[in-house]
Amino acid sequence: MKLCVIAGDGIGQEVVPQAVRVLQQWLPALDCVTADAGWDTFQRTGQALPEATLAAARDCGAVIFGAVSSPAYPVPGYRSPIVQLRRALGCHANLRPTLSLPGCGAREGVDLLLVRENTEDLYIGEEQSDGETATAIKRITRSASRRVAETAFALAAADGRRRVTIVHKANIMPLTDGLFRDCAREVAAAYPQIAVDEMLVDTAALRLAQVPQAFDVILAPNLYGDILSDLAAAFGGGLGVAASLNLGAGIAIAEPVHGSAPDIAGRGIANPVASLLSLAMLLRRHWALPQQAAQLEAAVKHCLAEGLATPDLGGRSSTAAFCDAVLARLR
Ligand code: NAI
Ligand code: MG
Repeated sequence: MKLCVIAGDGIGQEVVPQAVRVLQQWLPALDCVTADAGWDTFQRTGQALPEATLAAARDCGAVIFGAVSSPAYPVPGYRSPIVQLRRALGCHANLRPTLSLPGCGAREGVDLLLVRENTEDLYIGEEQSDGETATAIKRITRSASRRVAETAFALAAADGRRRVTIVHKANIMPLTDGLFRDCAREVAAAYPQIAVDEMLVDTAALRLAQVPQAFDVILAPNLYGDILSDLAAAFGGGLGVAASLNLGAGIAIAEPVHGSAPDIAGRGIANPVASLLSLAMLLRRHWALPQQAAQLEAAVKHCLAEGLATPDLGGRSSTAAFCDAVLARLR
């Protein structure tokens, strides 16, 4: 088992090494390789995602990516390294679970998985402007839509989930969102045990805000998935605990949803739960170690249920102290 550790900027440098320390001390067979990416790396080397980092990620097959800072103004040559990394490694699906965790102010009874297409839609970045009119290309392909739908239904079946909700806006965009919807419907036909419904994205946002418990698996194109998954994260206890996994063919990137949090960086108080739960997803989905994944999740929940928490959740624990407690529970 090899893990490429890209801590990145800001609190990435705090939560990722601490969460990885838990995994290493618990599973000594894990071989970790650290690699650089982000704004600090760009300022030092002129590259946000050095070739050596990409090579290490490919070689390991499993990556944890903390967070990076992005400049608030356009900087020539700087592109978001996580977007580049997902693309370079062919991670076609982004999995974002939302679970009611204890001690996080989460809504009761939420247990949903949002599966987001990760490679196309408006996020291909093909924009044009003459100063008066700006245009962006929204690209939806049959191959990417089928691939992400296959991932969503296969995960739903493997996890014993009952329903997949396809989110789109095909009433306004019948060709693009219609294609996404139709591909998902085609894939669904191979899974008679899983119920399928569809919802317009605006309706889905309202439903999610009202009754997040009503959702099981949500399958969405890139843009809607990005927005709805942050909304869903609010019901699971916020950014400090929101985990995700980017999945490709034989490769995966564990990625806490949060950014580099410059407002709290350097103080040792960032919440490591998002990173720990992202590593649990890597254990379950990439290394096929569901038992260890469940143990790690249970240890995190146990610590939260006992009232241990970093300041973002109203507690007084440090990043390191929380991780010590999780490790003690695992041993
Ligand atoms: P952010 O996620 O960094 O922070 C938003 C708020 O949540 C802040 O108040 C922060 O303190 C808090 N927070 C986030 N994660 C936390 C944790 N683990 N523990 C405790 N509190 C936590 O988003 P923001 O402020 O919009 O962006 C800051 C920087 O991060 C920007 O440069 C942005 O471009 C970058 N960013 C990077 C992402 C990535 O690398 N995937 C994702 C989002 C933002
Ligand atoms: Mg986002």
